[in-house]
Amino acid sequence: MRPLRCLAVLLVLVLLPAAAWTLAPPRFPGPQPRARQGTNGVGAYEYETRYFRQRLDHFSFPGVGDEDEPAAFFQQRYLVGRGGGWAGPGGPIFFYCGNEGDITWFAANSGLVWEAAPRFAALVVFAEHRYYGESMPFGSKAKAYNNSKSLAYLTAEQAIADFAVLLTDLKRNLSAEGSPVVLFGGSYGGMLAAWMRLKYPHVAVGALASSAPILQFEDIVPSTIFYDLVSDDFKRESLSCFHTIKDSWKVLDEQGNGQDGLMKLSKTFHLCQTLKTSGDLSDWLSSAYSYLAMVDYPIPSEFLMPLPANPIKEVCRNIDSQPEGTSILERIYAGVNVYYNYTGTVGCFDLNDDPHGMGGWDWQACTEMVMPMSYSENRSMYPPYKFDYASYADSCIKSYGVRPRPRWITTEFGGHNITTVLEKFGSNIIFFNGLLDPWSGGGVLKNISESVIAIVAPLGTVLSPVYLQCLYAIHLYFLVLVTHNRINQCLFSPYLMQSDTAS
Ligand SMILES: *[C@@H]1O[C@H](CO)[C@@H](O)[C@H](O)[C@H]1NC(C)=O
Ligand SMILES: *[C@@H]1O[C@H](CO)[C@@H](O)[C@H](O)[C@H]1NC(C)=O
Ligand SMILES: *[C@@H]1O[C@H](CO)[C@@H](O)[C@H](O)[C@H]1NC(C)=O
Ligand SMILES: *[C@@H]1O[C@H](CO)[C@@H](O)[C@H](O)[C@H]1NC(C)=O
Ligand SMILES: *[C@@H]1O[C@H](CO)[C@@H](O)[C@H](O)[C@H]1NC(C)=O
Ligand SMILES: *[C@@H]1O[C@H](CO)[C@@H](O)[C@H](O)[C@H]1NC(C)=O
Repeated sequence: MRPLRCLAVLLVLVLLPAAAWTLAPPRFPGPQPRARQGTNGVGAYEYETRYFRQRLDHFSFPGVGDEDEPAAFFQQRYLVGRGGGWAGPGGPIFFYCGNEGDITWFAANSGLVWEAAPRFAALVVFAEHRYYGESMPFGSKAKAYNNSKSLAYLTAEQAIADFAVLLTDLKRNLSAEGSPVVLFGGSYGGMLAAWMRLKYPHVAVGALASSAPILQFEDIVPSTIFYDLVSDDFKRESLSCFHTIKDSWKVLDEQGNGQDGLMKLSKTFHLCQTLKTSGDLSDWLSSAYSYLAMVDYPIPSEFLMPLPANPIKEVCRNIDSQPEGTSILERIYAGVNVYYNYTGTVGCFDLNDDPHGMGGWDWQACTEMVMPMSYSENRSMYPPYKFDYASYADSCIKSYGVRPRPRWITTEFGGHNITTVLEKFGSNIIFFNGLLDPWSGGGVLKNISESVIAIVAPLGTVLSPVYLQCLYAIHLYFLVLVTHNRINQCLFSPYLMQSDTAS
């Protein structure tokens, strides 16, 4: 079976606690992923790129004169699958809710959507999230990201409204008003998929939310859970590796004292530029560990970076197998080389690299996506740290001149008491989580009702069963729609039968 992931297992920016270290911009070095080309119709990742004139602000009404302002609209990019397997008007539409990055990158890495679509004779659509990739308001990234005023329209609510408007218009153009729409999304995109199903039930009949940490807000889950799970992944591979990492932070801070120390550190880690603070290096290392935990696949992959199979095992092998007398920091360097330089072609490391264009997440994290993150004392491999909202808010004010609204997401989308709430009014959402993924800590891991279900891939699972579980999830999904849903049941039966004979 070709290498496949159960959707993008990633919430791209890992916001680092702000005390010892600074509120870091996202670090995302590495080459662009290669777009995969399918050869036959099934699973071919082939699409047409289109643009849609999208409204900048869905929640206010510009005066008639201002409506003609170019800034009142922007071009939203979306991709439409060319597979040719769509059943036509009335046939299902699989709609991927774009995350915080270039949509072509997610399209190239969401094999499940492409491979499932032919089985359901579904049309595939990937929509880009505003302020990412080419979907820039105000005509350019520089203008869109200029200040808090230009960034004000970068919110999840606006993004979901974009998707709803786009879908409604697209269906009308295709004379496909009756087509059932199933939303897909991974990580932040998975959160959007789930939330959109709740907010726009008339636009989409259901959602598959993969690795979607919709509970990572306020105190719904312990603030230590994310980094505890990252740490568990390392401990699972090697206890000495875990301890080397745990011991490294202090050494790093000590060495980073003074100009000379920062220079030495920069040299040890082959950085392109001399460090300004050792915290920048800590952030960069911590990002690598978090990303590794998110993509610890048992097969080689290239989603975030070109990586070997079981990359954490490889990192730990490098850390553990250095000759006697190798310093802790040299071991750490050897370890992260697996993540940042697996191809062996990187000349020096640029800490500010962001090849997938995900910088906007910092703004989102400083406004509504406030996910408290702490380091626990014993279970984690990080120095103990307790999330401190006041200093978090301070750094947001410093960076963007904006004050976060930490309670807004749960007010807008819910999250507290989710089981009771969704049992009463939610339907047709599948939450998929792999337990090695640290975002599973903020995910929905228990079945809530007959049609709000959790599929959990346990620890140490190999990939093909995970993939089968994903496919199974979709099948189950359609079964749920047919047997329990009040929406247009008969529409689905032909596709179900088709998929049954196809599989
Ligand atoms: C950014 O905003 C400032 C202040 O409003 C303005 O003077 C400047 O031209 C803007 N820059 C861009 C690239 O839009
Ligand atoms: C629908 O068609 C109109 C007219 O051709 C076009 O302007 C619009 O962009 C189309 N909508 C979508 C979502 O492609
Ligand atoms: C990347 O790996 C190659 C081959 O092992 C090595 O020569 C090079 O120094 C590494 N780059 C960095 C920045 O460490
Ligand atoms: C962590 O471990 C130490 C030593 O075993 C113990 O004294 C302390 O209570 C533990 N802390 C927590 C939060 O469990
Ligand atoms: C959750 O919902 C149940 C049932 O409505 C209610 O009894 C309970 O108090 C709620 N808990 C919270 C924390 O809101
Ligand atoms: C939820 O229900 C589905 C369907 O019955 C089942 O396959 C799945 O394993 C259940 N999930 C959990 C976490 O129990």
